[in-house]
Amino acid sequence: MHDFDIAIRGGTIVTASDSYRADVGIRAGKIVAVAERLTSAAKTIDASGLLVMPGGIDSHVHLAQPAFGGPMMADGFETGTRSALAGGNTTVIPFALQPRGQSLRAAVTDYHREADGISLCDYGFHLIITDPTPSVVQQELPSLVGDGYSSFKVFMTYDDLVLNDRQLLEVFSAARRCQALVMVHCEGYDAIKFLTEKLEQEGKKAPYYHAVSRPEVVEREATHRAISHGELIDVPIMVVHVSGRQAMEQIRWAQQKGLKVYGETCPQYIALTADDMKGLNMDESGGKYVCSPPPRDHAAWDAIWEGLTGGVFQTFSSDHCPFFYEGSQGKKNPKARTSFKWVPNGIPGVETRLPILFSKGVAEGRITASEFVALTSTNHAKMYGLYPEKGSIGVGFDADLVLWDPKRKEVLRQEIMHHGADYIPYEGMQVTGFPVMTLLRGEIAMEEGKVLAQPGQGRFLKRRISPYALPASGRAAASAA
Ligand code: URP
Ligand code: ZN
Ligand code: ZN
Repeated sequence: MHDFDIAIRGGTIVTASDSYRADVGIRAGKIVAVAERLTSAAKTIDASGLLVMPGGIDSHVHLAQPAFGGPMMADGFETGTRSALAGGNTTVIPFALQPRGQSLRAAVTDYHREADGISLCDYGFHLIITDPTPSVVQQELPSLVGDGYSSFKVFMTYDDLVLNDRQLLEVFSAARRCQALVMVHCEGYDAIKFLTEKLEQEGKKAPYYHAVSRPEVVEREATHRAISHGELIDVPIMVVHVSGRQAMEQIRWAQQKGLKVYGETCPQYIALTADDMKGLNMDESGGKYVCSPPPRDHAAWDAIWEGLTGGVFQTFSSDHCPFFYEGSQGKKNPKARTSFKWVPNGIPGVETRLPILFSKGVAEGRITASEFVALTSTNHAKMYGLYPEKGSIGVGFDADLVLWDPKRKEVLRQEIMHHGADYIPYEGMQVTGFPVMTLLRGEIAMEEGKVLAQPGQGRFLKRRISPYALPASGRAAASAA
């Protein structure tokens, strides 16, 4: 009889607060010991020379999502979560989207059909509210929050998704009442529409003009408006996928004022620029980089690093939103070739998120390994009600781990990816630091790029209320609202 099912020996444990040499003992899917030297295990994994970190939690991915009235997504739960595990992640939180005119509860039921028995890694659902009718806001939302869907996203742009200011205020009030965490896509609908029409009239229709139609000021204005609405209602908000200085500074300003405003950024905002959308001589290949908000420029990268190192951003997520490039569902489908406005918005990234941040962050000396863990795992667990089962290494946590070679050099290429898309926007990028093994609740789910987990191995995670969702004025105020 052994003390442990698995002992991971000889590695360097990295948590959001510390980095130290120790072994990890796992029994029945849980971490049961962290000690200088563990023996008596049915299986031993040699982690010498490797970092042992909590599995990545990607709290912003889109899988099998009705695609904004456009082409279908390249990933459902099977390929999307396979890709997640290959990239060193153990939990993803995609979005159950309420199509307008339909019930939110029905959207969640439908979405479970896409995921349950199929997902290879653990998963929770955020909600997307597109139609905040009284029954959605007063009945469905509170009941869903109680059932473990404790966060939702709202959009300030996109024809099929946008909420007007009155609707935003209504859903912010509802979030405050039921203590859900609100994620906001901050880009101003009318300004984008205005600029898009103007560009089209001028014959500027290539993918590059997607970036011109959504400049930073449009993101800054919407970010400020969302912050103001949050302040008015006294509800925390999470501003997702921040692309550059202007929005980052709005969030920092709000935080300095004492408002509960959180920020998320993504790999595309430290690794791509608007110029990538020029493709080859302004051709359709620029569509491979079309996402919203669009990537900006090198000065914006610097601003994002300022936000990452200065505590403005709590989470670094992928915003994995994969579309094909080729074919009738692809980014260069015949309609998309007529104008940038028809190019599906979103890029794949769940598998490349951790290597890009580790390489540009830890290997290039901008952040510590502990900051990397906070930004890619621990803060996601805390922010979205998964802590203390997920997001760290200690006795009682799920044995969700990534064994990471900090020295390994890899070239990111489509050929080594596990997702459903037919390209990556980071083709040819060299990274230092790569996952060599992922363990999901104590099972080896990926080893040396080979995904061993099976469909259905991932569990649905009912998420508790996030402490980050409590209003600045406290719990009592929330219950009085
Ligand atoms: O372009 C993007 N980011 N598409 C995904 C949808 C969203 O707004 O997150
Ligand atoms: Zn968004
Ligand atoms: Zn997104």
